Amino acid sequence: MVCTLATLNAMKSRQEKIVCMTSYDASFTQLIEDAGVEVTLVGDSLGMVCQGHKSTLPVTLDEMLYHTQCVTRVATRSLVIADLPFLSYCSPDQAMESAGLLMKEGGAHMIKLEGGASQLANVRLLTGHSIPVCAHLGLTPQSVHQLGGYRVQGRDEDVARKILDDARELEAAGAALVVLECIPSYLAKEISESLSIPTIGIGAGVDCDGQILVVYDALGITSGGGPKFSRNFLEDAASIPEALQCYVADVKAQKFPAAKHTFS
Ligand code: KIV
Repeated sequence: MVCTLATLNAMKSRQEKIVCMTSYDASFTQLIEDAGVEVTLVGDSLGMVCQGHKSTLPVTLDEMLYHTQCVTRVATRSLVIADLPFLSYCSPDQAMESAGLLMKEGGAHMIKLEGGASQLANVRLLTGHSIPVCAHLGLTPQSVHQLGGYRVQGRDEDVARKILDDARELEAAGAALVVLECIPSYLAKEISESLSIPTIGIGAGVDCDGQILVVYDALGITSGGGPKFSRNFLEDAASIPEALQCYVADVKAQKFPAAKHTFS
């Protein structure tokens, strides 16, 4: 079955967890689709895990286009989201041009951008022109220098309130999905319950409507062992396909993320 936004909304309604994973090339895309992953994200995390940069900031739009094409050439079942890279959506016009490229030449089904209230005009323009938008709140890696590092967001009441308000406004502006990264699980639960669009968590607890991991983190390839919120599924599996199937099964069964992968 081909996964669409309607599929994801129906899954939220029947409380079936949505399984997402990053991929940057053809081989991993085939493997994760075969395992049953419903949403493939061509994340700008490729700047760190493929290109060896210290952040996602150096990734260019042309590089995102190249990797998006590598993925969409073989993807047949998952909904493919492509990240708008740093400084490629500083105005609605620029966002439109960048997103248009990833959709028209890259074959993406949806684009993802980071940020809250500052992104409302972009979200309105893109969705008004039939470009589905996935928002991204909490720890937004493109703002790493403004945030002062890769830290959990929303532990203070005023920041938590802002994330919740931003999520509601992004939904009202037309966003169809929202990624919640590294926020306390109780906040992610509140946001997930108060939105009608699906939330996809990474380091945001089990109560999000879906989960996403960077594929290299989930296979234990990332140097330094990967972040606290991830798990090496290859540890208990005999092969990469088996590890990916285990990730899908554990997200569906709400066994992943466990308490040790979660922030409070
Ligand atoms: O770039 C990426 O891989 C992401 C995920 C971590 C959500 O944005």
